[in-house]
Amino acid sequence: MNKIIKLIKALYLLLKRPALLNLILKEDAVYKEKFERNYKQIKLQEISVLDWPEAQKIKIVPYAFLSGSSLPTDFALLQLLCRRFQVENYFEIGTWRGESIANVAPFVKQAYTLNLPDESLRHMGQTEAYIASHRFFSEHLSNVTHLFGDSATFDWQPYVRKMDLIFIDGDHSTEAVERDTRNTLRLQKNQESIIVWHDAKSDTEYPRYEVLLGIYNGLPKTMHQHVYLVKNSLCAVFLPQQPNGDFIEINALPTKSFELTIKQINIAS
Ligand SMILES: C[S@@+](CC[C@H](N)C(=O)[O-])C[C@H]1O[C@@H](n2cnc3c(N)ncnc32)[C@H](O)[C@@H]1O
Repeated sequence: MNKIIKLIKALYLLLKRPALLNLILKEDAVYKEKFERNYKQIKLQEISVLDWPEAQKIKIVPYAFLSGSSLPTDFALLQLLCRRFQVENYFEIGTWRGESIANVAPFVKQAYTLNLPDESLRHMGQTEAYIASHRFFSEHLSNVTHLFGDSATFDWQPYVRKMDLIFIDGDHSTEAVERDTRNTLRLQKNQESIIVWHDAKSDTEYPRYEVLLGIYNGLPKTMHQHVYLVKNSLCAVFLPQQPNGDFIEINALPTKSFELTIKQINIAS
């Protein structure tokens, strides 16, 4: 299609549905430009955790294989971090089906998961089916505490300086990730405490700059050097124990291959 005709059609659609403008503004290329402008000196680094000795045996359970599920490698990362660094107290923002917390619960003493209350989800116009799927895999777990609130207004005080690992997987807009990151800093038990962000990549290779901007804006500069994307996953991690990573290389030839075994398990109804 001729460029001028395309432009006229696009302008017509924008006038008819101005909300379409958000698609342009939320395009990751726009965030990438902003990220590269604000963080000229940052060269994104990646680490591989599936090389760790703890990764010899990883079992991802439960796994729903449903829309919006994290990748098995995201849950593998959380489990590996908990095992390698003897995580006792784990805090996550974003429960949904309870898949991530259920994967982590066997490896920690106490796990906390915060989500918007069902009533807020209802007010936001979410479907009853979506609301009902919240906490599906975690409701019955004895070492999991479900917390309800908006991370923007939540009272963090009872959890301040208590957490060994914090997983940020709530609202993925730049502003929310920045705010959640700042709040999370207060929860760190000490300077060694780990932070993991989900959806810092749009797939296992491409960075997601909307989220990365929030991460780097939310962290003090001194912490930037220990932020790593995690190979084969959608996560980024703040890992002060990690000396350095590799610079990211997109569309490189595979250097590793994995074997997955899939087994269906029964779930009590
Ligand atoms: C991607 S899902 C979490 C998935 C979960 N961590 C897992 O991997 O199994 C994001 C969840 O965050 C919740 N959420 C979004 N914004 C939030 C906020 N401001 N405060 C608390 N929870 C929020 C949503 O209701 C949704 O259930």
